Amino acid sequence: MAIKSEWQKSMQIKVDYNNMMADYIGEEQGFTDKELSAGKKIAEAAYKDVADNRGNGMMGWTELPYNQNEIVKDIIETAKNIRRKFDNFVVLGIGGSALGPTAVFQALCHLRHNELPKKVRKAPKFYVEDNIDPERMAALFDVLDLDKTMFNVITKSGATSETMSQYLIIMDKLKAKFGDKAKEHMIATTSANKGNLIKIAKAEGFKTFYIPDGVGGRFSELSPVGLLAAAVLGIDIKAMLKGAAFMDKLCKTKDLRKNPALISALLQYLSMKKGKNISVMMPYADSLKYIADWYCQLWGESLGKADDKDGNKVYAGQTPVKALGVTDQHSQIQLYREGPFDKVITLIAVDNFRKETPISNGCKDFPDVNFLCGHTLSELINSERKATEYALTTAKRLNYTVTLPEVNAFTIGELLYYFELETAYAGAMLNIDTFNQPGVEGGKNATYALFGRKGYEKTREEMENAPKKKADYIC
Ligand code: PA5
Repeated sequence: MAIKSEWQKSMQIKVDYNNMMADYIGEEQGFTDKELSAGKKIAEAAYKDVADNRGNGMMGWTELPYNQNEIVKDIIETAKNIRRKFDNFVVLGIGGSALGPTAVFQALCHLRHNELPKKVRKAPKFYVEDNIDPERMAALFDVLDLDKTMFNVITKSGATSETMSQYLIIMDKLKAKFGDKAKEHMIATTSANKGNLIKIAKAEGFKTFYIPDGVGGRFSELSPVGLLAAAVLGIDIKAMLKGAAFMDKLCKTKDLRKNPALISALLQYLSMKKGKNISVMMPYADSLKYIADWYCQLWGESLGKADDKDGNKVYAGQTPVKALGVTDQHSQIQLYREGPFDKVITLIAVDNFRKETPISNGCKDFPDVNFLCGHTLSELINSERKATEYALTTAKRLNYTVTLPEVNAFTIGELLYYFELETAYAGAMLNIDTFNQPGVEGGKNATYALFGRKGYEKTREEMENAPKKKADYIC
């Protein structure tokens, strides 16, 4: 169904960066119009870099809103069958293969989805297994009826130890129970031509979806990595992609004041130059709680780089921190308001919540409680967000607010794409390779070495020859 353009406009995400400006938090911390104008050149260069490289190399993700018609059809058809036959849908993946599906599930499904009766839920229960804690894996088997469970193993490299070990454990159980029919309980989402999972999938005869070559893990939520799980959960994936395309269109201008991803990237870049090494992501909505987790990977893994593109040691990046409004007002805000001036705090606001809960009348004899009566929880949460914004601003703390008119498939598509573009622009400003992750690979390779994987003998030797720990330093 076509989404009317007026409605799309009414769903536009807004970025309010008043509180990044010197007018509000003073010149020592904030930015003047002059500084923004001076940054125009670097923003325009980043804009050009991203525009010139769209769709190429590791920037295949920019085209996901436009080039998946056939895949989306297949996903919707597959999801329909899964919804009909299965009660549980389990994602096996880690990093980009897990954080996106989790974030979108939390954003767009009932907040107690798995606890709802099947009739109300209308979709399988959903689990994302993104760790290899043995207790967690054992606990999963305690709640799953394998007859009614579809697994989706997701790994772009087709080699990640965590994901492949989970796959091995589960496939063994499926084969023991279903024999030749085990393959009917497993879908593989992986690279079409790299790694082992694609070979295994072909040998086993799994239904397979592909992660395009130019789409890295943390940029893959709008590919089959995220779309299959979303469709199984009954989420309108076409609307998600339309939302992403809408944001893409909004950002197709090098005019800083009009391009929300570009202005945010520039402000973060200028903040990094001023020593603001921490980026706090603080949504004021439980539904967006795991968007902050997803953002942490995107921002941390993309920008945390030792070298720039010219081979200089730059040790770039900002440490991403997740927080939840209002919960973390009672844990982290003290630090944010009075601790070191080393942070940029992004508040995510929601104008209209999908459900309203009035605060009941009562406690007439206690005015300090009674003042809450007659209001609603959405009024309270949004007032507390404004209060936090005020408190941060009066303490001269850099903060800005990203507002979603409401949380729906379209605005989530917009939000994901906004952060992806912001990250790409910020990486271009820092002159680093935004799309590699040598630091992650280092850990992966060391694990292979420890487990005696062929080809990793040298790493194993290096690890064995590393300085031994001193008992003196352990107490
Ligand atoms: O962004 C990335 O590419 C990584 O963080 C990956 O998502 C993560 O390491 C998992 O890799 P894979 O999908 O190959 O299992």
